Amino acid sequence: MSDILLRGTSLKKDYGRITVLKGVDIDVAEGEAHVVIGPNGAGKTTLFKVLSGEVFPTSGTVSFDGRDVTRLAGWQRTRHGVGRTFQMARIFKELSAFENLVVALEAKKRQGTSALELLRLVPAASIRDEARRILAEFSLEHVSAWPAGSLSHGDKKTLELAMVLAARPRLLMLDEPTAGMSPADRQRSVELIAGLMKGGGLSLLLTEHDMQVVFGLATRITVLNYGEIIATGSPEEVRSNPRVREVYLGHDVSAA
Ligand SMILES: Nc1ncnc2c1ncn2[C@@H]1O[C@H](COP(=O)(O)OP(=O)(O)OP(=O)(O)O)[C@@H](O)[C@H]1O
Ligand SMILES: [Mg+2]
Repeated sequence: MSDILLRGTSLKKDYGRITVLKGVDIDVAEGEAHVVIGPNGAGKTTLFKVLSGEVFPTSGTVSFDGRDVTRLAGWQRTRHGVGRTFQMARIFKELSAFENLVVALEAKKRQGTSALELLRLVPAASIRDEARRILAEFSLEHVSAWPAGSLSHGDKKTLELAMVLAARPRLLMLDEPTAGMSPADRQRSVELIAGLMKGGGLSLLLTEHDMQVVFGLATRITVLNYGEIIATGSPEEVRSNPRVREVYLGHDVSAA
C-alpha cells in the first residue's frame, strides 16, 4: 500500500490550440493538506477538473488509491472517495439548507439515484437527525429553514462543504474555498477545515489566493505558472524560493 492517495502524471490539457496544462506531475499523500497556488489563469481549476474527472486530460494519467481513474467520470470517482467543491458553490437554491443536506445524505445512501428521485423521497428519521447534527457542526442551524439561495456567500460555501463531506470522502478537493468571503467567514473556514484535518482520515487538495489561508493550512505547497509546476515543497521552502517570489508571491508573502 502506498501512502499516495491521488497521483497525476504528465498531465496535459489542450483546449483547441491552447495548451493549459503542459505536463503536470502532482500527488496528494494520505493526511496531507496540499495547496496549489499560482497567478490567475495558471491552470489551477483546469488541473482540479482533470484530477476530479470533470474533464479528461489530453494525455497523462490520474490514479486514486493505486487505481487508474483517468477515464472515470467525476461521479464515479466520488464513489471511490473523492469529494470536491467548485469555484462557484453548487447547491439547490430553492431548497432549504436542511433539505440540501438531506439530499446529499440520501445521495450517499442511494448511489445511482437521480437528483429528481432524491427530491421526491421522504427522508428517514436517521437522515433528518444526521442533517441536523451536521448543520450544528457547521454552525448553520440558524439558517436551516432558509432557501439555500438566500444564504450569505460564506454560508453558501459552508453548506456546500458540509454537503461534500456528507459523502465522507477520503480526499477533499476545494477550489478557492474562501474566494469572495468576508475576513470573518474566511477565518471561520480555515478553522473549520483545520478541524476536519485534525479529525484524521481526510486528505486535502485546495487552491487558494489568500496567503493567510494558504500558509494557515498547507503542509505542502505547489506553485503552478502557465500550466507548469515551478516549485513544490514545504511552506518554508516555497516561501523562500526566489523564482516563486518573482512570479507570484512578490512582497505580500512577508505579511503571511
Ligand atoms: N473550457 C475552456 N476552454 C478554453 N480555454 C479555457 C477553458 N477553461 C480554461 N481555459 C483557459 O485555461 C487557462 C487556465 O484557466 P484556469 O481556470 O484553469 O486557471 P486558474 O489558475 O484556475 O485561474 P484563477 O486563479 O483565475 O481561478 C486560462 O487561460 C483559461 O482562459
Ligand atoms: Mg481557478
